[in-house]
Amino acid sequence: MKRKAIYPGSFDPPTNGHLDLIERGSKIFDELIVAILRNPEKDPLFTVNERRQMLESMTGSFDNVSVDTFHGLTVDYALRVEAQAILRGIRAISDYEYELQMALMNRKLQPGLETVFMMPAARYSYLSSRLVREVAQLGGPVDCLVPELVAQKLREKMDVANKFGDAAASGQEPETRAADRAPAERAVDRKGQERVTKERKTKSRKRKS
Ligand code: PNS
Repeated sequence: MKRKAIYPGSFDPPTNGHLDLIERGSKIFDELIVAILRNPEKDPLFTVNERRQMLESMTGSFDNVSVDTFHGLTVDYALRVEAQAILRGIRAISDYEYELQMALMNRKLQPGLETVFMMPAARYSYLSSRLVREVAQLGGPVDCLVPELVAQKLREKMDVANKFGDAAASGQEPETRAADRAPAERAVDRKGQERVTKERKTKSRKRKS
């Protein structure tokens, strides 16, 4: 029987740590599906399609790795695709409690399904999508944290944020109403607007003094 696993997650955005784990997983499973959770309650930076495209490009060289999306319970998805295991990464002891809780809940829901934990390379042990987003949004370099393609996409997102920020600063109407844009764009736009408001306040304080 072929050993098939899913590697579920948000991947917003995928990082070098994810890629490291995918490579390790691809060596111990015959087939590995990187499964992006479609979660309508979250306001991600990247759309599911953008994340899918990035992951497909990152994993193109692995013959036994594919990328898919799912919603609902991870265990239901695993059953649907006939996987026997869920792959998850543990970077540090701080990950363990949450991962253990999730693994035991998944076992309760589906006793036949195993969770397999793997550790990424130590050099990625501090790396998370959340920190990558934060560094990128605050203008820091992310080149060694994510594959080049992802770094490029992050730069594009930040350019959009700056563009909308500049438009607001010069008193122009943004090209599109915020509500009409994708959530990810709205998220970066919010940051741009916040920065502009801050700059305006600082300028007006300087003028007063
Ligand atoms: O990359 P993340 O955000 O840590 O991944 C978390 C994920 C997607 C694996 C987890 O939130 C999940 O499995 N969500 C699907 C809903 C579900 O099955 N919930 C019960 C898990 S115990």
